[in-house]
Amino acid sequence: MTEKRIYTKPTIIRHTVGVMNKYGRPPATVPMNRLVGYEVKELAAKYGSPLFVLNVQELREKYRDMTRAFKTRYPKAHIAYSYKTNYMKAVCSILHQEGAWAEVVSGFEYDIAKNLNVDGTKIIFNGPYKTRDELIRAFTEGSMVNIDNYDEMQLIEDIAEEMDKVLEVGIRVNMDLNNPPWHKFGFNMEAGHAFEAVKRAQASGKLKVVGLHIHAGTYIDDVSIYSKAAQGLVDFYTYIKAQLGVNLKYWDMGGGYASHNTLNWAWAPAEQTCPTYDQYAETICPILMNGPFSANNAPKLFIEPGRALVDEPISLITSVAAQKRLPSGARGIVLDAGMNILSSVQWYSYNFQTGQDSGFMVEDTVIYGGLCMNIDVLRQSASVPPVRRGDLLVIPHVGAYNISQSWQFIYLRPAVIAIDGGEIHVIKKAETREYVQEFEDVPDKFK
Ligand SMILES: Cc1ncc(COP(=O)(O)O)c(C=O)c1O
Repeated sequence: MTEKRIYTKPTIIRHTVGVMNKYGRPPATVPMNRLVGYEVKELAAKYGSPLFVLNVQELREKYRDMTRAFKTRYPKAHIAYSYKTNYMKAVCSILHQEGAWAEVVSGFEYDIAKNLNVDGTKIIFNGPYKTRDELIRAFTEGSMVNIDNYDEMQLIEDIAEEMDKVLEVGIRVNMDLNNPPWHKFGFNMEAGHAFEAVKRAQASGKLKVVGLHIHAGTYIDDVSIYSKAAQGLVDFYTYIKAQLGVNLKYWDMGGGYASHNTLNWAWAPAEQTCPTYDQYAETICPILMNGPFSANNAPKLFIEPGRALVDEPISLITSVAAQKRLPSGARGIVLDAGMNILSSVQWYSYNFQTGQDSGFMVEDTVIYGGLCMNIDVLRQSASVPPVRRGDLLVIPHVGAYNISQSWQFIYLRPAVIAIDGGEIHVIKKAETREYVQEFEDVPDKFK
């Protein structure tokens, strides 16, 4: 008697050999078996998977290159690293070793900088919500504070009164530069609010405006936005200098410089669209150099890059937990890393490289994160060669925002290692259950 076989719907799977697609975008078949000189397999075996890996030399080189690009065009240019992008102590510390100042947007970040021995005078304090105590600390320690709103201005005037001195401040401005415009922060230029704010601050007799700050958005790959912002600052400075006698000590162009990650809605890969540091600097600096100041009286120029510095030097090693065939016929794979540690999948179409030789016969694959949540999709379609449970994938350029915005949800967050000059350092241990529950308590009566 012949056994009755279960009917399985046949699927035709298109396998392609890994070449550029028609937009020049390489499929994810390029194996990345080694990271900063180490076998990916070895790193995962020793430090676990998932695992963030920082290439220290690359981070240093990025800082140096960006500084060179701006300083050669504007001698008083300086980088204040945007802490929020990745405030791991080792990352900030390496950048401070290179000479970076700190740009912080909360008392918590301010404290991290102070704990790393950053002098108060090398901290720029931004953001829409700063508490009274945080402001007092910042002014006492000589930090630059950029005012976001009138409530904050009033609070700072009270502090000036209490400290019995005139406090030097910066004013955050915004302009109609992008669509939708970033109007949440600071005072709008076109509506006249920025002028009113400067006038109001000067008129108080307690504040002296010495800085102008703008941060026009994030991942700005259109340099014309920076040229408009820079020209806007120059025109505004010219006006408030003439009308109100303001003399700036600094102007601050904020962050927003793009990194080599491709946006979800982009047609071309970031390698083809992302401006270089030199292109950003060439757009901004000559405009500011034409500002209303004499040669020996140029305001300092701050830039506050985040993702442009730290995105690329960090990669994520992750393992395949499962693969499945979806009803559509497409292949799906489930990874041990989810959007809890890769929040930037909202914006980025990450590359997934294989961490071992898996061949070049790729197939369109849905890449799922390991969270038990339907929305945890890391990429709707990526060209991936055959992989099995336990195989490794490497996701390059994950250093910005993913770690600082990671959420602890059903899994423990992974370790972060830094590789430098042939040495490996664990700069963040993998979380433990005890660590996650450290501040919890079960009162006796609930037991
Ligand atoms: C005030 C300010 N400066 C700098 C940055 C860094 O931005 P990016 O990572 O796009 O360079 C941010 C990020 O939102 C910011 O709010």
